[in-house]
Amino acid sequence: MTDKYVEKVLLDKAAIEKKIAELGSQISKDYQGKELLLICVLKGAVIFLSDLMRHLDMPLEIDFMAVSSYGASTESSGVVRILKDLDCSIENKHCLIVEDIIDSGLTLKYLEENLLSRQPASMKIVTLLDKPERRKVDIQPDYCGFRIPDEFVVGYGLDFNEQYRSLPEICVLGEK
Ligand code: IMP
Ligand code: MG
Repeated sequence: MTDKYVEKVLLDKAAIEKKIAELGSQISKDYQGKELLLICVLKGAVIFLSDLMRHLDMPLEIDFMAVSSYGASTESSGVVRILKDLDCSIENKHCLIVEDIIDSGLTLKYLEENLLSRQPASMKIVTLLDKPERRKVDIQPDYCGFRIPDEFVVGYGLDFNEQYRSLPEICVLGEK
């Protein structure tokens, strides 16, 4: 295992549930009369995707992409690699990228540029968490659950070294 431990709960289950319901109704309103493709960024965003999609009130499809991010470190390398691409074409589709957290923004910047080159009808970003202080490139989410301080968080899908994803709350990780 690791020499880290769960220091405190930053966002509890009730706060997360309430925020996702709000995001769901806002997105449903904005896309009224349209079909939506949710593009989930593996693996961290899977729990957010599964909760958010059940608050969306339109015909929708889901697809998944995996990109390399931190490996076993807590700092972004800046090198982004596609590990798994989408199964389907996104041409002429309304796409919403579903991300767990935006940190430096390097991953999402790369992803957005890559996906925009495939000629979608539109492209927006929803992130559950945003750490704006850490941004290295100019990228803004269209929808954001919570802005959080510059602390490493785990739980609700987010990992450190592939651990802690199953925690129901979002927690701050401390050093032993
Ligand atoms: P970025 O490219 O620096 O914006 O990093 C984005 C990715 O790094 C996210 O999609 C997460 O998978 C991961 N990440 C960034 N910050 C955290 C954190 O505090 N906890 C867990 N994963 C994180
Ligand atoms: Mg991620």
